[in-house]
Amino acid sequence: MKHRVFQIILTFIFINLQTMAQSSIPPTSNHRILICYFSASGTTANAAKQIARITQGELFSITPEKIYTDKDLDWHDTRSRSSLEMNDTTSRPAIKEIKGNMEIYDVVFIGYPIWWNLAPRIINTFIEKHHLENKIVVPFATSGGSSIDHSVTILKKSYPSINFKSGKLLNHSNEKEISQWIESLNL
Ligand SMILES: Cc1cc2nc3c(=O)[nH]c(=O)nc-3n(C[C@H](O)[C@H](O)[C@H](O)COP(=O)(O)O)c2cc1C
Repeated sequence: MKHRVFQIILTFIFINLQTMAQSSIPPTSNHRILICYFSASGTTANAAKQIARITQGELFSITPEKIYTDKDLDWHDTRSRSSLEMNDTTSRPAIKEIKGNMEIYDVVFIGYPIWWNLAPRIINTFIEKHHLENKIVVPFATSGGSSIDHSVTILKKSYPSINFKSGKLLNHSNEKEISQWIESLNL
């Protein structure tokens, strides 16, 4: 009987240790982390959720006041909403919500789909409506194949007072790759 109880306790401890190893990846640092993202069709949102799980940071969706329809997103149509916005460097599509309490975050991840080899203009709206100076800003993106580099170069040029880390393209990245990238940032 004693032996059986001992066996049950050991099994219980083993299962718990296994669960902890799988699901509770410790936060990378003591920083307060915010993961903001714009996603028109869900891919970047998935990457953002993975980052949030790994860092235990808070998620914030950058939501357009007017949601993009499939027609809006048609990059073959030079008159589509996305084409008009991307053709106009001053375009700043309105966002539904301003994130409050920005002062409590030290690290802000900003995620977006690559549009025309750039960050969508709504990312400019978000950046210009929030105080990101004195924070570490980490861009990430998803794309149909383009690299993130050009978009980050332009963001750095447009906002020289913001401390941007070099960004990371997260196409088809798994949790292990994302964890390794975040660790390499030494946040
Ligand atoms: C208007 C528009 C422009 C795009 N431009 C590019 C581009 O220049 N390079 C690229 O690789 N993918 C481009 N894409 C594809 C998206 O970057 C890709 O599908 C992305 O993963 C979508 O992310 P989301 O689901 O979070 O919106 C474009 C998509 C749209 C809608």
